[in-house]
Amino acid sequence: MNLRRGRGRDLADLPRDPRADQYPMPFVPYGWYAVLRSEELRPGRLVNLHYFGRALVAFRGAGGQAAVRDAHCPHYGAHLGSGGKVVDGTVECPFHGWRFGADGRCTHAPFATRTPKVSIGGLPVREHSGLVFVYTGPDAPSWEVPGIPESSSGEFAAPIDDVCRSRIHIQEMRENIVDESHFTFIHGQNEPPVMDLLPDGPFAETRSRFGRRVLGWDINNTFDVYMYGPGVMVVRVLGPVLSLTAVALTTPVDERTSELRMLYYIRKPARLPFLAPVLKLVFRAEALGEVREEVRIWDHKIHRPRPLLLPHERGIKALRRWYAQFYPSDVTSDVTSELPVQPGTATAMS
Ligand code: FES
Ligand SMILES: [Fe+2]
Repeated sequence: MNLRRGRGRDLADLPRDPRADQYPMPFVPYGWYAVLRSEELRPGRLVNLHYFGRALVAFRGAGGQAAVRDAHCPHYGAHLGSGGKVVDGTVECPFHGWRFGADGRCTHAPFATRTPKVSIGGLPVREHSGLVFVYTGPDAPSWEVPGIPESSSGEFAAPIDDVCRSRIHIQEMRENIVDESHFTFIHGQNEPPVMDLLPDGPFAETRSRFGRRVLGWDINNTFDVYMYGPGVMVVRVLGPVLSLTAVALTTPVDERTSELRMLYYIRKPARLPFLAPVLKLVFRAEALGEVREEVRIWDHKIHRPRPLLLPHERGIKALRRWYAQFYPSDVTSDVTSELPVQPGTATAMS
C-alpha cells in the first residue's frame, strides 16, 4: 500500500468545487448492472435498493426468480420497502395490503371487487455468476453479460467483497483501468503498461503486464481485462505468486454518487490450497488501501472533457470512444471548452 506524503489528511475540510459534480453525459449509461449478490436476496426477504436515482425493491417471486421493481405503490404511494413484506412470492404493500408479483402486476387488493389492472415499474433482471443484474436503457436489452466461471469454480476461494462509493461518474471509475500512468504512481508498478483497447460492440478487451515489488519480491503478472458494457468488468491476473480474478461492478447511485463493488476471486494454490486464506489476507493489506486512495482522488476530481494526455496515455481516449455507445447518440463527453494544449508536452483528446 502506498501511503505517501500524508495524502488523504484533512479531506473532510476540503471545500467542494461545484465542477466536481458536473458532467456533460447522463449519469446512467445504458447497460447491465449488478445490484446484488444472489446470496443477499433470500426467498421471502424484501431488500431496499437505491440506484439510478430510483428507489427500488428486490425480492424473489414464487418460482424463486429475482425481481427488481420500483419501490412506490401505484395505489397511494407508500414505499413498499418501508414496512412491506414478501407473501407467497409477491410483495405486499404496508399501507392497504395490495400485492404485486415478480412481473410487477397487482395480484391482490383487499376489498376490491376486481383486482386492479395495474403494475409497478421495474427493470429487466438476469441472475447468473452469483449476481443479480438489471438493465437500464430505452429499449429491451440487445446483449447479455457473459457468465463469470470463477464464481462457481472450486479452484477459487470465496471472494473478498469490497464495496465503496464515490462522488464520481461511473465512466471515470472505468477509465481507471486504462489510465496507464496511475499504475506507477498509485499501484507501485515499475513502469506504465502498454494498453490497447480492443472494442467488440458492447464488449472490449485489453491485455497487459504488471510488474511491481511486493514484500521484497519482484512480481510480474499478466492481466487480461474484459469489459461487458458500462457496469461490469472482469480482470484476470496471472502471476507466479498470486492469480486472481477481480470483478469490478460499477453502478450509478444518483447524479453525484457511484458505487464500486469489487469481488476478488483468489485462485487457490494448486498444491497448497490451504494457503488461500493467507493469500487473501496479504491481498487485502496490499490492494484495498490503493482503491481507497483512488476513491479520495475521485471524490474531488473534475471531469476533463479533453485531458492533456502524454504520448503513452492512449487508453483513456480509446475507452471514451468505446464508452460513447452507452449514451444517447447526441451526447458526447467532449462538449465544453478546456484550457489550450501546451505544444510539445501533451496531446489533448480530440
Ligand atoms: S398505498 Fe399501497 S396499498 Fe395503498
Ligand atoms: Fe487503479
